[in-house]
Amino acid sequence: MLRFLTAGESHGKALVAIIEGLPAGLKLDIEKINLLLKRRQGGYGRGKRMSLEEDRVEIFSGLRGSVTLGTPLTLVIYNRDWQNWQEVMAPDAEALLTERVVTRPRPGHADLAGGLKYRQDDLRNILERASARETAVRVAVGAVAEQLLSFFGIEVQGQVVAIGDVQAKREEKIIDSKLLYENPVYCPDQEASLLMVKAIEEAKKRGDSLGGVIQVIAEGVPVGLGSHVHWDRRLDGQLAQALMSIPSSKGVEIGSGFAAATLFGSQLHDEITYQQGEGFGHRTNHAGGIEGGITNGETVVVRAAMKPIPTLAQPLASVDWQTKEAITAAVERADVCAVPAAAVVAEAITAWVLASVMMEKFGGDHLEETLSNFENYLQYLQTK
Ligand SMILES: Cc1cc2nc3c(=O)[nH]c(=O)nc-3n(C[C@H](O)[C@H](O)[C@H](O)COP(=O)(O)O)c2cc1C
Repeated sequence: MLRFLTAGESHGKALVAIIEGLPAGLKLDIEKINLLLKRRQGGYGRGKRMSLEEDRVEIFSGLRGSVTLGTPLTLVIYNRDWQNWQEVMAPDAEALLTERVVTRPRPGHADLAGGLKYRQDDLRNILERASARETAVRVAVGAVAEQLLSFFGIEVQGQVVAIGDVQAKREEKIIDSKLLYENPVYCPDQEASLLMVKAIEEAKKRGDSLGGVIQVIAEGVPVGLGSHVHWDRRLDGQLAQALMSIPSSKGVEIGSGFAAATLFGSQLHDEITYQQGEGFGHRTNHAGGIEGGITNGETVVVRAAMKPIPTLAQPLASVDWQTKEAITAAVERADVCAVPAAAVVAEAITAWVLASVMMEKFGGDHLEETLSNFENYLQYLQTK
């Protein structure tokens, strides 16, 4: 079983993840992890903090000579701004707890609900962990998963398909990643992306923020991942949970998703085909590559709707946590639009879920064993 945990506060010394269950013998390219981290920090609409820090991963355990040992893999991303925060965030009794106290809960954040739930006087104790900064280390975890998937010919890509009310033309395929990341908003539709940049600029001028829609495409996924036999083994359910766990994600759809609800069955369902030598297939892919919680051999297509960033330069009304006076919400350094970054996070988390169901199905303590189980399965499919 593949699993991971993350730890770390937004302005703490470092973010950490431990991955357990990776097979031994997996050659990892650390620069590929750093590349995905860089992409998460980019995209038009990000705030100042992103230029302040260049995230880079350090591996503390589980890797020797670039090859996994089958032991827990520890990933660490240091906070490059730590010297400015070490007194406030110090873990020992020396911490300056009266500095940078947050008492103005921001609508749309965990500040208020978290403060009440965890009985905190300083809402910083909530926002430090609720911050989307944690997604940096989740991207590092996903970058490892992507490298594992590449041995099985599976490729995953996150794309921006809408920002505010600007919609891109939607094609459900992976494009050249160099082309995608040269685009300022990581959108495959160049024309629409110009309008998206404009929309972000306008929101920024007004002290406002914008959300959007991201789409993740996974190509080369074999039939038979996930299962219909139990609710928590359904792959659509696992993907929905993973994508919904991205901060600001408010809706997830698979394939035709919400539009499916407006169609007749005859318009929606993908008719089955059979071709000698190629086996079973479908005429269309409205199901987004998953039927009954199981991959059906078609491209996996998932989308997530991201709400606009809640921290606003023109802050919304709130109530002071201590005095109960009506005030305006706190303004932390904030992005205007983090949808491109969220597409990278979505790609990473989708890769993670796919890697974990691959390991569930094909197992193995060494990558060679996993690959040989996979080959056997492909041979069996050819007999069908
Ligand atoms: C990559 C990324 C960057 C984000 N940056 C910010 C930000 O700068 N300021 C902000 O207020 N929210 C930001 N958010 C969104 C908040 O983290 C999120 O809205 C908040 O934690 C509340 O969670 P919820 O929206 O899922 O309810 C970002 C989200 C993502 C995915």
